[in-house]
Amino acid sequence: MKRNELTSNLVVMRPLARADIPHIRRLAAAEAIAKNTYVPHPYPPEAADEFVQKAIDGWRQREACVFAIIESASAQFAGCMGLHPEPAHQRAEVGYWIGLPYWGRGLATAALRLIIEFGFGELGLNRIAAGHFPYNPASGRVMQKAKMRYEGTLREAHFHRGEFKDEVRYAILRRDYAADNPLEANKTKGTAED
Ligand SMILES: CC(C)(COP(=O)(O)OP(=O)(O)OC[C@H]1O[C@@H](n2cnc3c(N)ncnc32)[C@H](O)[C@@H]1OP(=O)(O)O)[C@@H](O)C(=O)NCCC(=O)NCCS
Repeated sequence: MKRNELTSNLVVMRPLARADIPHIRRLAAAEAIAKNTYVPHPYPPEAADEFVQKAIDGWRQREACVFAIIESASAQFAGCMGLHPEPAHQRAEVGYWIGLPYWGRGLATAALRLIIEFGFGELGLNRIAAGHFPYNPASGRVMQKAKMRYEGTLREAHFHRGEFKDEVRYAILRRDYAADNPLEANKTKGTAED
């Protein structure tokens, strides 16, 4: 994969690294993260190590692109965002969390916009999708602000923490992105297999 350092005014993103482990251990342990994701709770001591090792392997094997989200203003680790491509369909799924102290600063939105640009520009994807639980409208708002479109709600698609839960689905297509970003779209030249 090519350019993997992404920057905007609010965030810098770079591949997750072993130095991030203590920050992940501290921030991912919050119940508010587990409630909305598959991050385990209580957070096992070895989980951050395993998560980072999987992310490093994912980059090496070109199976997943998991980024650390660093808040530009403070240079602090604030969360993670991963893009999980399915090359046969030139599509990918995004997942993310932001540590509680950093909520409401626009970081998830800035990171999602960057990872979408990366997915279309560097990976040559055709479709980028994400989903959230219905009781997590903040995440839906992040997807809307990144110009993803609501596509529907999958009924009881998840068995999460002992309950069946719906998934609210959003996606953005390459052609949606190109219509909004003609200059960026012209720069895109990669394919998902590069
Ligand atoms: C969801 C999450 C990623 C948002 O991160 P963030 O950096 O605070 O997001 P942003 O600041 O970019 O944007 C949040 C938006 O949601 C809005 N919002 C917050 N709470 C909301 C609520 N209860 N209902 C509707 N919108 C809400 C904010 O007002 C903001 O929108 P605005 O800019 O139009 O005002 C973060 O809360 C988080 O990590 N939650 C736990 C894990 C998680 O949910 N991961 C995603 C799984 S799909």
